[in-house]
Amino acid sequence: MNVVGMGEQMALEKIVFKNLDIPEMTELKTYEEHGGYKQWKKVMQDKVDRTELIDTVKASGLRGRGGAGFPTGLKWSFVPQDNPKPKYLLCNADESEPGTFKDREILEKTPHQLIEGVLLGAYAIGANTAYIYLRGEFVKGWKMVEHALAQAREAGYIGKNVMGSGFDVEVWTHRGAGAYICGEETAMINSLEGLRGEPRLKPPFPAVEGFYRSPTIVNNVETLATVPKIIENGPEWYTQWGTEKSRGTKLWSVCGHVERPGVYEVPLGYPMKKFFEEELGGCWKGRKLKGVIPGGSSVPFMLPDEFLDCDMDYENIAAHGSMLGSGGMIVFDETACLMEAATVLATFYAHESCGQCTPCREGCGWVLRQLKDIESGQPQPMAKEILFDVFDQIFGNTICPLGDSIVMPIKAMMEKVPEEFEYYIREGKSMVTGKTRLAHLAKPDKPENYRRGEAFKYPRAEDFTTDFDKVVHNVERGPEPMFTKLQHEESTEKGDSPYAREQKK
Ligand SMILES: Cc1cc2nc3c(=O)[nH]c(=O)nc-3n(C[C@H](O)[C@H](O)[C@H](O)COP(=O)(O)O)c2cc1C
Ligand code: SF4
Repeated sequence: MNVVGMGEQMALEKIVFKNLDIPEMTELKTYEEHGGYKQWKKVMQDKVDRTELIDTVKASGLRGRGGAGFPTGLKWSFVPQDNPKPKYLLCNADESEPGTFKDREILEKTPHQLIEGVLLGAYAIGANTAYIYLRGEFVKGWKMVEHALAQAREAGYIGKNVMGSGFDVEVWTHRGAGAYICGEETAMINSLEGLRGEPRLKPPFPAVEGFYRSPTIVNNVETLATVPKIIENGPEWYTQWGTEKSRGTKLWSVCGHVERPGVYEVPLGYPMKKFFEEELGGCWKGRKLKGVIPGGSSVPFMLPDEFLDCDMDYENIAAHGSMLGSGGMIVFDETACLMEAATVLATFYAHESCGQCTPCREGCGWVLRQLKDIESGQPQPMAKEILFDVFDQIFGNTICPLGDSIVMPIKAMMEKVPEEFEYYIREGKSMVTGKTRLAHLAKPDKPENYRRGEAFKYPRAEDFTTDFDKVVHNVERGPEPMFTKLQHEESTEKGDSPYAREQKK
């Protein structure tokens, strides 16, 4: 793994990934030898006031790394301590955003660091129960976390009356069944409760009314794994990295057409050009850069000039027309056809929409159908205008941001590189490859029937999913083993579900 510092101003130091390359860091003994659980012991033995922990995290300027960048300490302070209901901490390890694969490094290689962060977070908000909600496909990560939890429980870091402090805490894992929407915090809460993974209307926000209608904090893996380091070294130490509003370091997962894809820890505010050229080695095979989606597939596409000009922090990327999001960088070189990339993205979002609200459910389908029509050489009249109209109908009109997520990358691609879309509409083939990707799939008997939606079988979503690898591929590692029903049953044995546990209380 790689870390870069801020050149002259900033020392080269790893924070979240400090322990990552140490062999056997998944073992309690190794983690303890490197200072692990020291903060947790101190907090428990000294009975540190929980507001002190919240104030430390607030002063560090740590912002949530799950995508929205909300200040972590501030979020913790929203938990109403006078509410007699139990409080919950939920760690979001769903990580399903295309292009984002940073959290699984932590889950698989340094799970104790995450668990220490979860314990500190739970104590700070007054929660006696915490859940780590993992995407189902993270089989290895789940096994590593379970292994680490068993060791921590055995060592007395988790359980009743931890180290004689009088504080009880239990941490459970829960595996999702593979829905991207379950990464949205309220959908995750629904899923944990055994309901359909559908987002809830906010307010009320989870901090006030979340899991089982009790005060709940949802935090990302990277966010929580940073907490022990901040408690250990103090907030001033952490603020030496980053900018005034974006403190510390950020993990970036980089994929696509770059020389050195992978997961990098970079101080916030680091110059993008320097990072792209010196750390990533520039575009793959010395080709020309066409553009980048910088923060996971949900954020606006950037042209090379915008991208290379910006600094790697929340504010500067926003000032350049995109978002830092979850830090999942997808790089496109000159050989990528943006029209086809847009169809791949639309396929993903149309498939993952939970269907709860009309603009997203219908809108994602409309966007996908228009793009498929263009790809099959049979565009609807005024296809481009229809697409922009549908974007307007979706954007800002949905319960959760998934609707906006199909709009932002594709709309930016169409606005910034219109010629590729116009060429496809006009010529029925890609301006870049000279071919149409769907020629072999879309064979309407009669165009007039096809236009009425009859006698034509659209390729199903599954027909496209393999193509996704072409655009968003993690070159560094192979695919995860498939999540099977059997494994799911193993992990949620009868009577071992969150619901059953709550009933037993
Ligand atoms: C469609 C959708 C998917 C999301 N997926 C994730 C995810 O996989 N992991 C994550 O941490 N946050 C995800 N989020 C953001 C969460 O809703 C939430 O903001 C985050 O977990 C809060 O943690 P943080 O404050 O530490 O960032 C997603 C949001 C949306 C709208
Ligand atoms: S925006 Fe889409 S994913 Fe989100 S609640 Fe509405 S239908 Fe579901």
